Amino acid sequence: MQALKDSFGRSFPYIRLSITDVCNFKCGYCLPNGYQVDKSDNRKFLHLEEIKRLAKVFSRLGVSKIRLTGGEPTVRKDFFDVIKILKNEADIKKVVITTNGYHLDKKAKKLVESGINGVNISIDSLDRNIFRNITGHDRLPEILKGIKNLQELNFDNIKINAVLLNNINASEKDFNNWAEFIKKNKVDFRHIELMRTGDNLDYFNKYHVSSKIFKDYLNKNKWIYQTFGKDAGPSLNYINPKYKGKFGIIAPYSKGFCRTCNRLRITSRGDLRLCLFGNTGISIRHLLQKDDQIDELQDLILGQMKFKKESHYLELGETGLTKNLSTTGG
Ligand code: 5AD
Ligand code: SF4
Repeated sequence: MQALKDSFGRSFPYIRLSITDVCNFKCGYCLPNGYQVDKSDNRKFLHLEEIKRLAKVFSRLGVSKIRLTGGEPTVRKDFFDVIKILKNEADIKKVVITTNGYHLDKKAKKLVESGINGVNISIDSLDRNIFRNITGHDRLPEILKGIKNLQELNFDNIKINAVLLNNINASEKDFNNWAEFIKKNKVDFRHIELMRTGDNLDYFNKYHVSSKIFKDYLNKNKWIYQTFGKDAGPSLNYINPKYKGKFGIIAPYSKGFCRTCNRLRITSRGDLRLCLFGNTGISIRHLLQKDDQIDELQDLILGQMKFKKESHYLELGETGLTKNLSTTGG
């Protein structure tokens, strides 16, 4: 089996696949005015057959984990069929999602029954008003209920991501609220540093803050840094024996962040992206049309690996092709 490797010795057993750009939330840093149809790009989102061929070729290339992202992946009517195809037809071992938690209370049971292996939920604040102000939706209670429902079904591979926003959710009180939450819940909570994209410059300048403030909080409160595991991603994790959950930090602006990169991305319209922020991306969709194109498709993907760069160069103010993260799913 030929596996996906780049020129810097990194392997890619992990794909993040966006299945739609559509999102029903209006997060200030991503889609402040809500989802707008992109008139310059009228290509449809990948359909089931294309997704099946995509997953099959990546399975052949050693990919064992696919994360479904959006926009909001669960808005797709055939969302549960996508999971089924990835697991049953393409034999992807771990299928996980990133969701904004919309209707999670109602979807929890079906999610568990689908055999999904992990659920990442974006919750920027445990304060109902702050949550509503950031996302434009008063839906914190239904999301927390959804988490409870998942737990009651004995599903415990739950992660929560929150974008760290200065003067909004980055105070000691905010951190204490999360600590309280993960004391009782076996959930990994991670703060992500706000990333600058093509669309969010003013927002970025106003609210970006280094994750050092959170790191200092963790150190002060005796959280223990856990060194990298074998196929760990870029999150720095902290444990505390008195807590059921863990804390984590995702700091894309920190030195060495890209060293542990283990993922490639596919956009909802079938472009391969070698990096969330890279300028490198080609469409592979023309080779997703028939089953017998799989060898050609495999060669195309393998041939792209030499273009993967060592770093995203974000610290130089590069934003690559990325207008906002709703097309590539964070
Ligand atoms: N910077 C950091 N995180 C972001 N997300 C979306 N846009 C940004 C950004 N500019 C996060 C979402 C979600 C994940 C998919 O990406 O909050 O947790
Ligand atoms: Fe939607 Fe996620 Fe963007 Fe928020 S960050 S608007 S939930 S795609």
